[in-house]
Amino acid sequence: MKKMIIRGTGRYLPERIVTNADMTQWMDTSDEWIEQRTGIKERRWIPEEGNVGASDLGLEASKIALARAGWTPEDLDLIIFATLSPDINFPGSGCLLQSKLGLKSTPALDIRQQCTGFLYGMQIADAYIKSGYANRILFVGSEVHSTGIEKATRGRDVTVIFGDGAGAVCLEGVETDENVGVLAASLHAQGDYAESLMLEAPASRLNPRLTHEMIEDGRVWPKMDGRNIFKLAITRLPEITQTVLGKAGLTIGDIDMVLPHQANLRINQSFQKSLGIGDDKIYNNIQKYGNTTAASIPIALDEVIEKKLIPEKNATVLFAGLGAGVTWGAMIYRFL
Ligand code: UT7
Repeated sequence: MKKMIIRGTGRYLPERIVTNADMTQWMDTSDEWIEQRTGIKERRWIPEEGNVGASDLGLEASKIALARAGWTPEDLDLIIFATLSPDINFPGSGCLLQSKLGLKSTPALDIRQQCTGFLYGMQIADAYIKSGYANRILFVGSEVHSTGIEKATRGRDVTVIFGDGAGAVCLEGVETDENVGVLAASLHAQGDYAESLMLEAPASRLNPRLTHEMIEDGRVWPKMDGRNIFKLAITRLPEITQTVLGKAGLTIGDIDMVLPHQANLRINQSFQKSLGIGDDKIYNNIQKYGNTTAASIPIALDEVIEKKLIPEKNATVLFAGLGAGVTWGAMIYRFL
């Protein structure tokens, strides 16, 4: 039976480091507040000058992932691009990336699953591979948040947590009887909570879509009910992790590395504690990058592989995340 195998990973973080101290020039905040509440010390932002979009960061991550897989762009059957910060409203960043890779007809699919973009993207890729619709797929999660957050005290709860970055993964269908690939996955959404984390305007449901008033009222910036999202995350992430462990017939002790979405270090510490995960079995990098949304899990995966924190053969990893939508999910993946 065909299994989906990770052939190569890559990441790209812009060079510009923005520290918590830098934040105080735009808003009433402090290094202590940000670090205590979120664990974040610094994040990466695109350069101040020039127009850099999600597809540009995604391109850099993709080149690395493709090189590690030993593939050229022409080898791809499909591109899946996950972002909440597309280069332009439409067409999707997947099409822009496809062109930047020099491709002329390879299908490109954008998904809007925010913090769970990687989880949804992996499951879509797995389904494409198992159905025979595609065999070599490039998944890219990429975000440019820094140009879309309010750099003022009004937006400080959101602005201090987000960072720019991209992660990419090359996925291939391989015939094998080994118990590898996606061992179990569970994905959910609950649109009742859509307004707990959203960026509203400009929007098709608003007529006109954009007015000066909307700009003045800050409806063009993301809004978050942080406490509610926090509460949902610390209850639902352990629950869904138990669900996928049960589906795979594994216990947490069988997992070589847990890679949670990087939204808040306190969320991940609570998650770690409730599941009894050892410090060397969970990976966090939010301290350096902030929340890079759809890019956070693939960036972490690339770092874990590069740092050799998982066995070279048959490593079993668990991905989990919750974010805007709300959407949440978990997946257990075993390397070949
Ligand atoms: O990946 C997407 C999913 N998102 C998440 O998972 C985010 C989940 N939520 C969180 O991470 C946290 O709720 C935050 C880090 C966003 C906020 O932390 P909190 O401990 O929940 O703080 P809070 O919202 O309850 O605010 C406490 C106080 C408020 O002041 P008052 O009303 O007590 O006077 C805020 O105005 O902290 C204030 N505050 C800030 N102070 C300094 C909010 N943001 C800041 C800030 N600097 N950046």
